[in-house]
Amino acid sequence: MPNIARMYFITAICFLIAGILVGLKMSIAHDYAAVGAHAHINLLGWVTMALFGAFHALNPRGAATRLAKIQYYVYTLGVLVMTPALYFLLTGNPSLEPIVAVSSLVVFAGVLMFAAIIFRTRAG
Ligand code: HEM
Repeated sequence: MPNIARMYFITAICFLIAGILVGLKMSIAHDYAAVGAHAHINLLGWVTMALFGAFHALNPRGAATRLAKIQYYVYTLGVLVMTPALYFLLTGNPSLEPIVAVSSLVVFAGVLMFAAIIFRTRAG
């Protein structure tokens, strides 16, 4: 498996553990204020990163490029900043809104870079 695919799966499983912990905390406390953060940790972190990793595993040639490496760091940094900032924003810290906004754009930039990786991949 290409290194970048392995890195994506390792990062993804860490986000799934964090997302489930937030879900369990909400369930135990009967306080669902952080549901938006829980959903984004699981979907941007676990699901999307696992899909990125699976794509790289299926396309080892594209996975070895500099773009793939830069994309991993841009996207991961975005999700790593955005999800805890969103958690604290939703649980009563409105001052974090600009950080959520900027990191969301970083996440989006990472997604556009992944779109470029997909479009550059040749059949076969
Ligand atoms: C043991 C694991 C999990 C626990 C304990 C858990 C717990 C919760 C809780 C308590 C809510 C709030 C429900 C409500 O507002 O009524 C919720 C919502 C949600 N969860 Fe999870 N969750 C888990 C795993 C996951 C996973 C793996 C995903 C995605 C891959 C996910 C995605 C979502 C989404 C999208 C919502 C929002 C649903 C809505 O607002 O309609 N959850 N979860």
